Amino acid sequence: MSDNQRKILVTSALPYANGAIHLGHLLEYIQTDIWVRFQKQRGHNCTYVCADDAHGTPIMLKADQMGITPQALIDQTSEEHQRDFSKFLIGFDNFYSTHSDENRDFSAMIYTALRDKGHIDKKTITQAYDPEKEMFLPDRFVKGDCPKCDAKDQYGDNCEKCGATYSPVELKNAYSAVSGAKPVEKESEHYFFKLGDFENFLRDWVDNHVQEQMKNKLNEWFDAGLQNWDISRDAPYWGFEIPDAPGKYFYVWLDAPIGYMASFKNWCDKHQVDFDEYWNKDSQTELYHFIGKDIAYFHSLFWPAMLEGAGLRKPSGVFCHGFVTVEGQKMSKSRGTFIMAETYLNHLRPEYLRYYFAAKLGSGIDDIDLNLEDFRLRVNADLVNKVINIASRCAGFINKKFDGVLSSEIAEPELFQSAISKSELIAELYETREYSKAMREIMHIADQANQYIDTAEPWVLAKQEGSEKAVQDCCSMGINLFKIICAYLAPVLPDVAKDAQAFLNLDDFAWQEISKPLLSHKINKFKPLMQRVEEDKVNAIVEETKQNLAALEEATAKASVSELQQEPIAETIEFADFAKVDLRVAEIVNAEHVKKANKLLRLTLSLGDETRNVFAGIKSAYKPEDLIGKHTIMVANLATRTMKFGDSEGMVLAAGPGGEDLWILEPHQGAKAGMRVK
Ligand code: 2FM
Ligand code: ZN
Repeated sequence: MSDNQRKILVTSALPYANGAIHLGHLLEYIQTDIWVRFQKQRGHNCTYVCADDAHGTPIMLKADQMGITPQALIDQTSEEHQRDFSKFLIGFDNFYSTHSDENRDFSAMIYTALRDKGHIDKKTITQAYDPEKEMFLPDRFVKGDCPKCDAKDQYGDNCEKCGATYSPVELKNAYSAVSGAKPVEKESEHYFFKLGDFENFLRDWVDNHVQEQMKNKLNEWFDAGLQNWDISRDAPYWGFEIPDAPGKYFYVWLDAPIGYMASFKNWCDKHQVDFDEYWNKDSQTELYHFIGKDIAYFHSLFWPAMLEGAGLRKPSGVFCHGFVTVEGQKMSKSRGTFIMAETYLNHLRPEYLRYYFAAKLGSGIDDIDLNLEDFRLRVNADLVNKVINIASRCAGFINKKFDGVLSSEIAEPELFQSAISKSELIAELYETREYSKAMREIMHIADQANQYIDTAEPWVLAKQEGSEKAVQDCCSMGINLFKIICAYLAPVLPDVAKDAQAFLNLDDFAWQEISKPLLSHKINKFKPLMQRVEEDKVNAIVEETKQNLAALEEATAKASVSELQQEPIAETIEFADFAKVDLRVAEIVNAEHVKKANKLLRLTLSLGDETRNVFAGIKSAYKPEDLIGKHTIMVANLATRTMKFGDSEGMVLAAGPGGEDLWILEPHQGAKAGMRVK
C-alpha cells in the first residue's frame, strides 16, 4: 500500500438494545457507511465499528416486563439489529455490545485514572424512589399531573402539554411508572465527573474538532458553566458495578462511548491489529464519530474530557447530522411515518433509500426530509432513468453484435476526460460529507452520457450498412461512462456496484482505476440492475407501519395493565350483561410460538364441533408443549380481533400477577370441550 495510506477508525452511535432500528437511525448508519466505503475504495485502511448500547434502566425494565433476563433481551436485540443493518448494506467491520469484558475493563481503567487524578467527586443527593420496586426512578419513570397546567400522566421532567420543565418531586399525584406506587424521596451518595476541570482543554478542542453550527451550541454550554456529571446509579441497575463502590453502577452514558474502544479492541484481537497504535495519546491514526446532534454534549464534552483525563487520544472529528423528518414532520406512528427498517425492507430494496439520503445529505446538521413522493420520483429519475438506462441502451448491441467486446478506442475522448476529471472533486465532496453535491456531479455526468447516446443514435446506426464500427464505438463509449458513474456511486450503492462489476467483468472499482478506459475488453450479459420504485410499494410501507402501531398499542395496553398492577376493579354489571358472555370449556389441541411476538402463544382451541385460533398472552408462563391436551375456559363469543399476527377468535381466561406467575383456568377433569360454563 502507498505511503499516504491513512489509518482511520470510524464509529456510528451505538443503538440502544431495547428497540428496533428505524429510518431515523438509518440516516446515520447510511451516512457513515458511505463515508467508510469511500475511504476503503480510495485504498485507505479504514475500520468501522459499532455495538449495541446494552445498559441502563429502560433495558432492565423492559426485560423484566417481558419476563426475560436483560442478557436474553440484549442478545435477541443484537441479532435483530445486525439483521437489519446487514440488509441495509451497512458494512461494519465489527458489531459488538457494551456489555462485554473489554468494555468492563476499559470503563474501570478510565474511571480509575480519572479518580486517581482527582476528577471524581462524591455527593449525597435526593431522588425519587419506588418503595415497592425498591429502586430509584429516573425522571422518565415518574409520572403525574403537571404542576403548571394539571395535565394528567406527564413525565417527571417535562409536560408534553404545556412544555413546562420541572423536577419529579414537583409533580402532583406522582406515581411510579414501574409499579404504580407513590414515590418517596430518598438520599444516596452519587459519583460525579468534574467536567469543569477540563474547561480550558475543551474550549480549545471544540474549536478545532466540531462543525461550525455545533460550536455555537457548545459555546452556550460553556457560557452556562460546565456542570459536574453524575456518573453513578444505585442498584438495582443493569450495567457495570463501579470497582471501588459496591452497589453503585456506572451510568449507561459513561460506558457507552467507551464501547467504541471495546468494539475496536475486540476486532483488533481477532485481526492481530495493534490497538494501542490507535488509542495512545499521540496516535497518528484518525478517529471519527458520526452522531446525531442530540448527543453532541456527550461526544464533544464528556467524551473528550474523559479521554484527556485518562491519558488517551481524542477524536479527530465529531460529525453531527440532523434528524429525519417524513413529509416535513417529525416521524409519527399514527401517520404511518415512524417507519421501521424491517417494514421498509419488506417492500423496497435498501439502495433506494441509501441514494435518497445521499442525495439530500450535506455536512451540516439540518434535518433531512423524506418526502415519499419525491423519494419515488427522484430515485426513478436519477437511478433508473439516468444511470441504469445508459447500460441498458448500449449493452445489447455490444453483446449481440460484437460478442461482448468493447472497442479498442474511446470515441469521444473529451467527454471521457470530462467524466474522469471530476474524480478528485467528487472525492473531496465525499470526504467532506457533502454527498448531495457529489450526487449532483455524478448525475450531471449521467445526463451527458444520455445526451451523447441520444445524439449518436446507435439504434439508427445499427440499421445502416457499414456502420458497425460506429455502433461499437458509440456503445463502448456509453459503457465506459457507465463504468465511471457506477464507480463514483459505489459507496452509496454497493450491491448495484457489485452487479455492475459482474456485468463489466471487473474485480472492483478502486478509485485510482476510475480513469482507466475499458478497451477491447469483454463484458458479460446485461441484466437490469434496478427496478423502478412503484407507488403501491411506498403506500404499503405506510400501511404496514400503521398496522404495526395498532398491534403495538394493543400489546402495550395489556402490558401496562399487568405492569402497573392497576387492574381496575370492574364496575357492577347487571345479570343480563353477564349472561351475554359465552364461557365455554375448550381443549387446547395445539399451542405454538408466534414469530416475533414477545408475549403471545398461538392456541388452537377445540369447542367440540369447531376449532378456534386464539392468541393468548401467556408465553412468559407456559411452554407450548405443556399446554397441549389441557382444558381451559374461553370467552367464545368475543368479536374476532385482527392482530398483527392474524385473527384472534376468542380469549382464554387466566389469573395471576404476570410473568411466570400466570395460570390459565382449568376446569375439573370431567369437563368436556364445548361445555357451557354456568
Ligand atoms: O442516543 C443513543 O441512542 C445512545 N444509545 C447513543 C450512544 S452513542 C455512544 F456514546 F455510545
Ligand atoms: Zn403542563
